[in-house]
Amino acid sequence: MRDLKNQYVRANTCIACHQTVEIPLLKAGHPELIFELDGQAVSEPKHWRESTNWSGAQVWLVGQAVALREISWQVNTNNPFDEKLTARWQASLWLMRKMSVLLSAEGAPLFSAPDKADAVCKDADKLARDFAGMLWTAELSHKVLGRLAATGTDFQESGVPAASQARRAERLVLGLDRLAEELELKSKNSKADAALERLFGLAQSIPDFDPRKFSLALQEFSAALNEK
Ligand code: HEC
Repeated sequence: MRDLKNQYVRANTCIACHQTVEIPLLKAGHPELIFELDGQAVSEPKHWRESTNWSGAQVWLVGQAVALREISWQVNTNNPFDEKLTARWQASLWLMRKMSVLLSAEGAPLFSAPDKADAVCKDADKLARDFAGMLWTAELSHKVLGRLAATGTDFQESGVPAASQARRAERLVLGLDRLAEELELKSKNSKADAALERLFGLAQSIPDFDPRKFSLALQEFSAALNEK
C-alpha cells in the first residue's frame, strides 16, 4: 500500500512503469513512453482521496521533476551513448531548470551541475520533494503558465538541433495542457485554447518538427493569455 495522497510518493509509484524502457527494448520497437502525472492520474480511475489543497498544475510539476530524475538515472547508467535518450534528457532538464529558477523564490533548489547526469538526478529528486511540499496557489499556476508560454524565443536558438527542439516541444505542450485545464482556459479564453490546439498539432510529429512555426504559435498563445 502506497501513500498516493502524497504527490511525491504517487509520482514515484506511477513512473516505475510509465517511463523508463530499456534501450534494447526500444530498439526492438517498443514505443517510447512519456510520463505526465496529472493527465494520467485523471485517466486512471482514482483509488485514492486527494488532500484538500489539490492542484493539477502542482501534480504535473512533481511528475516532471520525477521524470527528469529517472531519465537522468538512465542517461547516467546507460552505456553506450544514446542520441534519442540524451535529447529527451536535455529537453526535460531545459524545462525543469526554468521551473527551478521561477520557483526559487518559493524555496525550490537550483541545479548544481546541469551538465552532469548524476548531479541532475539528485537535484531533480530534491526538486520533486520540494514541489510536492509547496502550498500551491492559483497565483503560482498563473506564474508557471506565463513562464512556459514565454519560452518562444528558445525555439529560435540556432545552436539547438530541430530534433532536440521537438523534444522540448513534446514536454512543453503537455505542461501547457495541464495548466490550461487547471485555469479553465477552454471556457475562459478561446483564443488561447485555439493557439494551444495549434501547438499540439505542431508538436505531434518529431521528424517534421519546425521550431520556427512552433515559436510563432507559442508567441500567439502568450499574446492571447496577456489579452485577458
Ligand atoms: C506495475 C506497473 C504499473 C504501475 C505501478 C502503474 N501502471 Fe499504469 N499501466 C501499466 C500498464 C502495463 C498499462 C497498460 C495496460 C494495458 O494497456 O492493458 C497501464 C496503463 C495505464 C493507463 C492507461 C493507458 C494510458 O497510458 O493512457 C493510465 C492512465 C495509467 N496506467 C495510469 C497510471 C497511474 C496514474 C499510476 C500511478 C498511480 C500507474 N498507472 C501505475 C502499468 C503500471
